[in-house]
Amino acid sequence: IPVAPFVLTVFGATGDLARRKLLPALFHRDLAGQLPDEAEIIGVSRRDLDQDEFRQFARQALMDHVPASELQGSEVNRFLDRLRYIAVNAEGGEGWTDLADALAGEGERIRVFYLATAPHLFGPICEQLGAHGLAENARVVIEKPIGKDLASALALNEQIGRYFSEDSVYRIDHYLGKETVQNLMALRFANALLEPLWNNAHIDHVQITVAESLGVEERAGYYDTAGAMRDMLQNHMLQLLCLVAMEPPHSLDDDAVRDEKLKVLRALKPIDDHNVNALTVRGQYRAGASSGGAVPGYLEELGSDRSRTETFVAVKAEVENWRWAGVPFYLRTGKRLASRVSEIVVEFRHVPHSVFDKSAGPIEANRLVIRLQPDEGVKLWLMIKDPGPGGIRLSHVPLDMSFAKAFKVRNPDAYERLLLDVVRGNQTLFMRRDEVEAAWKWVDPILNAWRHLKEPPRPYTAGTWGPSAAIALIERDGRTWLEESE
Ligand code: BG6
Repeated sequence: IPVAPFVLTVFGATGDLARRKLLPALFHRDLAGQLPDEAEIIGVSRRDLDQDEFRQFARQALMDHVPASELQGSEVNRFLDRLRYIAVNAEGGEGWTDLADALAGEGERIRVFYLATAPHLFGPICEQLGAHGLAENARVVIEKPIGKDLASALALNEQIGRYFSEDSVYRIDHYLGKETVQNLMALRFANALLEPLWNNAHIDHVQITVAESLGVEERAGYYDTAGAMRDMLQNHMLQLLCLVAMEPPHSLDDDAVRDEKLKVLRALKPIDDHNVNALTVRGQYRAGASSGGAVPGYLEELGSDRSRTETFVAVKAEVENWRWAGVPFYLRTGKRLASRVSEIVVEFRHVPHSVFDKSAGPIEANRLVIRLQPDEGVKLWLMIKDPGPGGIRLSHVPLDMSFAKAFKVRNPDAYERLLLDVVRGNQTLFMRRDEVEAAWKWVDPILNAWRHLKEPPRPYTAGTWGPSAAIALIERDGRTWLEESE
């Protein structure tokens, strides 16, 4: 079903995000017949391009990021015909009246501004949109980094809030658009089986791993100002934790879901100077091997030997409420780890008593593994009896649901869902202002405590699972990181 007619203006239209994600996502939705005839995309950047040059740029973006089998000439041309380019200087005055003129004749279409630019331009762009009367009845989309601490996030939200009301601000966390992340809600709330067990009486602990095998490469400039805590944990990983830990909302209404996530963020046990060493580990990769080849260390990629930015972080978090008291949430994320894998592991408690002989072997805990990427799927690990006429021997085996095998359809990219949700006016999968601020409120004291400690991050060899201290963090509690859904 097509969405309502819209005009989407993308600031930073010749940048990396537009090229890799936004244009391919819009093209895929067009292919699926979801863009109405009147849908138009206006590319904006400072560069002096004519219409043909911008369409050529977009064509190349599709060729690079959409499988060749999906690139039919007529469909590509139909998509490119929706594009228009306007050169605008976000900070100066040039180009704004051209943009205002282009949008003046748009009629009743939904007006969306996507700020795919450097974050320091978010404020100035909103101001110009306001000054040119373009913000009225419009929606604005921004992405992280939304500030670098609580104070800067408050200032940014304030600045945007001067021109756009909260219900027209869409803060993207692209992890919320991933299929398996949305599936977490289906698993929890469309099955009667899990929710009664979803608490500290039955769950021993939760692990959330977002491991990347790539290094920082050409993003080192930005990354060095952020680090793994700000780049991944403050947003993507805390959002995953919220979806695992939140109470059932009364509906999937945007504020119903976001109210519940906010309560989780506010219940996180504070980590500060007193407990930071016991509950967190920072790491930075050194040269090593990845995908069979030698790779440089972070400092070499950055071209400086002074940086103390962490490329890995592990945290033992706790949600201090009735449901989760005493259940640790172990989080870890890093660059240049042993493989690219993101998953959530919910480990249940052991059976209270074994009725089997020792010869049956150990009884392992039940485990629910939600694999976000790659090989999206869900596994529920159970104990069963090995087949055979002898005595009972027990095995830990998974009930295995691979999405690729179960549904032979293409897995849409997160941006496909999220972009159309903006047009639909559905904010459920976007972060509300108070959520972002609550996340920073928890993260700020950790960053401050690290600063006070003045310790460099612990080195780890590229291609491994991070510093050994991260293993000690969980093993101290008699538990172990589970790798690769073993
Ligand atoms: C981004 C981070 O938000 O997420 C990147 O800035 C990271 O550093 C990326 O690589 C990971 O996203 P995905 O979808 O590839 O898991």
